Amino acid sequence: MDLEGHAPASLACGARRIVAAADLDEKIRLSHATARAWFARTLSVRRRTGAAAMPDQPGRPERPVLLPPRDMPKRAAGGRQGKIALIHSLAHIELNAVDLTWDLVGRFADRQMPRSFFDDWVRVGLEEAKHFSLLRQRLIELDSHYGALPAHHGLWEAAESTGDDLAARLAVIPLVLEARGLDITPPMIEKTLAAGDRETAAILEIIYRDEKRHVAFGAKWFRFICDRDRQDPEKRFQDLVRRHFKGGLKPPFNDRARAEAGLTPGFYRPLARLIG
Ligand SMILES: [Fe+2]
Ligand SMILES: [Fe+2]
Repeated sequence: MDLEGHAPASLACGARRIVAAADLDEKIRLSHATARAWFARTLSVRRRTGAAAMPDQPGRPERPVLLPPRDMPKRAAGGRQGKIALIHSLAHIELNAVDLTWDLVGRFADRQMPRSFFDDWVRVGLEEAKHFSLLRQRLIELDSHYGALPAHHGLWEAAESTGDDLAARLAVIPLVLEARGLDITPPMIEKTLAAGDRETAAILEIIYRDEKRHVAFGAKWFRFICDRDRQDPEKRFQDLVRRHFKGGLKPPFNDRARAEAGLTPGFYRPLARLIG
């Protein structure tokens, strides 16, 4: 329970406060407090009638400056500046993951889903907060900080286009975007180690391990919803991704890690963008 007397009235209400928080220390603190209260079984799921709705946009501090992806400066390729730029962009992605996860919890709190559905996503929300904190701390160790560089604005689009469809939200966030993380993280860890940066590589290892579980939760609950609606999960996934995600999926895929998470090739292969 939140020691400062700010315990939320419900899980949905806690999630709304987290997404709305512009102060990032507060966002992290509230993530911990809400998860603690939820797992102590002191919160109901739903908000009371008349309680505030989820914010359209997450709360953000003044820095980093947010730019459209096309206006982002080219990232320095190597050296200390390149390292900082990479960690900064990963921290930004993790911060968005914090908000995307709590948005899922709050926005879909009124759906008929088992309690274990919320257990899983509260755990994910907490892990995304940990990922952001680890990367933010690493920037400080490198004499920089989150906010020192511009970051791109655009990660919230996926939330907007899937705001009223839980199956679409699961298809696009865990099963497309987080699954993409499984493809690109192992080579990133290798490069980081080759550059002699063991500290950052250790953080990426933690993220990789946790993200496998996030994809697995996505696959589990996507199948659950399809079962309940008597729909074929692979076909529904492909329809939803075509409708809500622009550009097709980019190979190469980490088939093994994806399959371990329950995301078998029949889901994503037909959506692979042709390259060449
Ligand atoms: Fe993460
Ligand atoms: Fe994640």
